Amino acid sequence: MNAQLGKTTAPVGYFTEDNSIDAVNARMGQDVSPRLATVMACLVKHLHLFAREIELTQEEWDFGIDFLTRTGQICTQERQEFILLSDTLGLSMLVDAINNRRPEGATENTVFGPFHVNGAPVRKMGDEISFDGKGESCLFIGRVLDLDGKPVEGARIDVWSDNADGYYDVQQPDIQPKWNNRGVFITSADGHYSFVGIKPVSYPIPDDGPVGQMLGKLGRHPYRPAHMHYMVRADGFQKLVTHTFVGGDPYLTSDTVFGVKKTLVAPFERVEGGSTTWRSDFDFVLARPNETR
Ligand code: BEZ
Ligand code: FE
Repeated sequence: MNAQLGKTTAPVGYFTEDNSIDAVNARMGQDVSPRLATVMACLVKHLHLFAREIELTQEEWDFGIDFLTRTGQICTQERQEFILLSDTLGLSMLVDAINNRRPEGATENTVFGPFHVNGAPVRKMGDEISFDGKGESCLFIGRVLDLDGKPVEGARIDVWSDNADGYYDVQQPDIQPKWNNRGVFITSADGHYSFVGIKPVSYPIPDDGPVGQMLGKLGRHPYRPAHMHYMVRADGFQKLVTHTFVGGDPYLTSDTVFGVKKTLVAPFERVEGGSTTWRSDFDFVLARPNETR
């Protein structure tokens, strides 16, 4: 059996630099859940290979421990620095990609982010979701379809975006009206949706903590290109968590959390003489649970 996967039966002896992976993984108990054993043995393998490859110094690892400690210490109910770390290292998008392999034509997933709030009000199609009087109004309009192009009835579309200053309502509870730039819309038989929000703006992720320091040291900016968040759920379909991105945004190719996909860049067109300044058309195509790639 492969000792690196935790199944060794032969004793490996005392820990040495050369046998370190086997030395740790050989300690795995007999009754450990098989998945946990696989995950932990692989994690140990890659951590050790990482330390060996870069010849990790004591000083560097002390810094690493301190960084992780500070990352934990800044976490609160409202602030999840470990998710930001995962996002900015591209790990959130990789896990999302592994878990949402959809056939061509189905709308792609992207990162959920920390600013969704459960319980946003259900609104009527066409309703306004922006209440702080800031920003340029935008009509968001389209349909929810299945992969055959048929409308999906009863799809629950949960939407949220930042305001024109680049902040979500939950980041400014004393400044923005409650549920500003949020709402839930439910499709009827024609699958259509529409609502009026603002044209979103690009904004920096919270960068006053360890993750922001890391980005600074790595010569990276903390910005996300302007986007509208969507979570679309309908009975008999995979849950879709996605954004539409504002075409032409300068950060599209350098999103600090790697969330941009070509198919999610949406048109935002200026409207002459309409009731909103902008209009963005986008259809969401849902895949059924068995429709995978
Ligand atoms: C967001 O788009 O809301 C977001 C995603 C990842 C990290 C921070 C913010
Ligand atoms: Fe966002």
